[in-house]
Amino acid sequence: MHDIIHQLDEKRGRAALGGGQKRIDAQHGKGKLTARERIEMLLDDGTFEEWDMFKEHRCVDFGMGESHIPGDGVVTGYGTINGRMVFVFSQDFTVFGGALSEAHAEKICKIMDHAMKVGAPVIGLNDSGGARIQEGVAALGGYADVFQRNVMASGVIPQISMIMGPCAGGAVYSPAMTDFIFMVKDSSYMFVTGPEVVKTVTHEEVTAEELGGAVTHTSKSGVADLAFENDVDALLMLRRFFNYLPLNNKEKPPVRETSDAADRLDFSLDTLVPDNANKPYDMKELILKMVDDTDFFEIQPDHAKNIIIGFARMEGQTVGIVANQPMVLAGCLDIKSSIKAGRFVRFCDAFNIPIITLVDVPGFMPGTAQEYGGIIKHGAKLLYAYAECTVPKVTLITRKAYGGAYDVMASKHLRGDVNFAWPSAEIAVMGPKGAVEIIFREDKGDPAKLAAKEAEYKAKFANPFVAGARGFIDDVIMPNETRKRICRSLAMLRGKKIENPWRKHGNIPL
Ligand code: COA
Repeated sequence: MHDIIHQLDEKRGRAALGGGQKRIDAQHGKGKLTARERIEMLLDDGTFEEWDMFKEHRCVDFGMGESHIPGDGVVTGYGTINGRMVFVFSQDFTVFGGALSEAHAEKICKIMDHAMKVGAPVIGLNDSGGARIQEGVAALGGYADVFQRNVMASGVIPQISMIMGPCAGGAVYSPAMTDFIFMVKDSSYMFVTGPEVVKTVTHEEVTAEELGGAVTHTSKSGVADLAFENDVDALLMLRRFFNYLPLNNKEKPPVRETSDAADRLDFSLDTLVPDNANKPYDMKELILKMVDDTDFFEIQPDHAKNIIIGFARMEGQTVGIVANQPMVLAGCLDIKSSIKAGRFVRFCDAFNIPIITLVDVPGFMPGTAQEYGGIIKHGAKLLYAYAECTVPKVTLITRKAYGGAYDVMASKHLRGDVNFAWPSAEIAVMGPKGAVEIIFREDKGDPAKLAAKEAEYKAKFANPFVAGARGFIDDVIMPNETRKRICRSLAMLRGKKIENPWRKHGNIPL
């Protein structure tokens, strides 16, 4: 017995040291925490229950038979974040570069299976050189086992990936199937093929950072949702983010007490929209003034900035916010913004998070780049997402709601539950100038007549009343009472229950 306890201590000690002090020092030297330090920072103190600390790989090729490190390059288990259950895996770069072996994959699969059984989220802290090269296809099989579980868990439990080191080749596809990907600046990168292969195949010279760093993926590609300054910042923000989410698709998100009154008025909003319809204003000001405690957790702030998405709370309840941003491309919908918002709407719908949509949209972005890029299909994603969605939907049109984009942005016609407009709302097929130029084309040479027709069109449609007369708008509200009216609507909708017809799955345009 004494001998076994001694062995246990010894094995635990070896596992805790991972790839050894030299490699731990190297990890720290790169400004990175170790796999275990990361878990400690992420979870509530003393709550981590580690599993499979003694698991080892079974490879005997290329000298691996003599090289065993307990835990095999990934630390797995469960614990709590602010008292709420979460399963975690954290890849250990100090052990075989965090490379994924068959055994390493089995550890990840085990916690994913348990997370599904008990209905708790999975967080992956990724720091790995990819498939364990010495193992060959066994490692590739391990990846696919994880992918399959990612897909089965999608929409059932929240899955979050934090990329904290390399993530290349096949390794990228597990994070790609999770709900959110966060990255750490300067120390993480993701790509399907690295700079060397890129150079050989396309003759492009690019650094790892340019090709797949945190800034690239949060601004250019939109693959990642947020970039953090360092490991500590990333893990603390992840704790904050976690508080917005439910544990699974059968539960509601936690409610956070607030002293911010639901009926708080904000008179500064009465002058937010400029008199000149072509002048921009910052939609974020409305968001911050509307939500609890000016607390807004924005997702993808540097990608497709013409649409804003993120989480906030109203009367303590998590809400998802989707808002056109008139400051960027006049708030129009284009390929990137449709994809960004469409995916967010689907996340909220899957996880019982009501959606507030703030509309100021002049239409879809024109041009060959958009048409050749498939705006028809990509724009349809957002439309599809809103139409399919069954969580409470409250929509507010602040100014323009033109054309097909009016329909798309959670309109009454796509089962919007409560649709408000400010007095400044203009709901029409297009702006008055463009409309008159088309309808009265033959009067092109008569500017006075065109101006009169434009004024007539404006008087008819540049207001919320035509839509109101048809019941497409439930009420025209004063900007200062926005929070109060939306809080009331959400309270009324708390018991909302509708179901879509049975089907294997819909066929969202991809
Ligand atoms: N399989 C097995 N061992 C791996 C590995 C992998 N996929 N990736 C890294 N390692 C090992 C390295 O051999 C090295 O071991 P050693 O210290 O005993 O020599 C250790 O992990 C650290 O890697 P190192 O290359 O020194 O770290 P780095 O920070 O300089 O580079 C990478 C990191 C990820 C860029 C580099 O290791 C790499 O290119 N790995 C291979 C990536 C790949 O092609 N993966 C397969 C695609 S799925």
